[in-house]
Amino acid sequence: MVELFEILTYPNEFLKKSSRQVENIDEDIQLIIDRMAATMYHAPGVGLAAIQVGIDLSIIVYDISAKDEEPDLQVLINPVIVESSGSTVTENEGCLSVPDLQANVKRHEFVRVNALDRHGNSVQLEAKDLLAIVLQHEIDHLNGVLFIDRISSLKRNMYKKRVKKQIKRNERKKA
Ligand code: CO
Repeated sequence: MVELFEILTYPNEFLKKSSRQVENIDEDIQLIIDRMAATMYHAPGVGLAAIQVGIDLSIIVYDISAKDEEPDLQVLINPVIVESSGSTVTENEGCLSVPDLQANVKRHEFVRVNALDRHGNSVQLEAKDLLAIVLQHEIDHLNGVLFIDRISSLKRNMYKKRVKKQIKRNERKKA
């Protein structure tokens, strides 16, 4: 069993950082991927970007298999959306770094993504439906963007206030 990472949550400033390209897919990267996968399954979540665990490298893991199916871990390194089209609104999108909030988010219906797999092989994905949404959400993380950056400012501000209150409440408990 590999060690789990701690997941950073909003308003941690690190989440706004852009991730760096992975230059060399070495043993350290393999361990990061294994720990990211374990952290994602433990949470549990559908996807996780390295920046969410405090590592500013362009790596994402995800698993969109249904609950009654075998796990199907996917790993993408240096993923880039090279083409996108159509428009859709996701229902109740959420994020491990944005606890206790789900919102509808405008996304592209289709994306084409170029990336490397964990062995350094080039992969090109054509995605629609849930996969397209997960890829857009995770690749946003690599650019320092959270899904709350894509919702109405009214909803975003309500969430910000709620988090501020929660932080104050926790500080009072500690004091
Ligand atoms: Co997320």
